[in-house]
Amino acid sequence: GGPVDIDLGQVEPGGQIVILWRKKPIFVVFRTQENLQVLQSRQLLIELADPDSKYLQQPPYAKNWHRSLTPEIGVFVGICTHLGCIPQFDPLPSASDPAPNWLGGYFCACHGSKYDLAGRVFRDVPAPYNLPVPPYRFTGDTTIRVG
Ligand code: FES
Repeated sequence: GGPVDIDLGQVEPGGQIVILWRKKPIFVVFRTQENLQVLQSRQLLIELADPDSKYLQQPPYAKNWHRSLTPEIGVFVGICTHLGCIPQFDPLPSASDPAPNWLGGYFCACHGSKYDLAGRVFRDVPAPYNLPVPPYRFTGDTTIRVG
């Protein structure tokens, strides 16, 4: 389980890839400007349990509204903080939304927990904490190293 290098060129704007690090799924999401606007919208913020990531230790560089080094790229441990299922990536409002007024994010089908595209957990769901941010850093303009 050493560090894992990721070429961000594999990730489409608005999409994500999942890699394994220490046997855990790591979500690497490329957020569009539209996604980033939603992450700052009052409509979303009032729904979140911990919008500023105060309740669990996060890497210092993730203590911001986008929970990452750069706003566009999000890196999260893809394990629901309730009982460990893998949340589904559902980045946009659509006809098949998992919840009413869905703004895009992650939905855990096991017991209905919801997270936004910064991995921030909603109020009124079983999951107690935001998705963790693993240690990572940029090793080039378009490459990151997790671990
Ligand atoms: Fe995700 Fe329970 S494991 S909601």
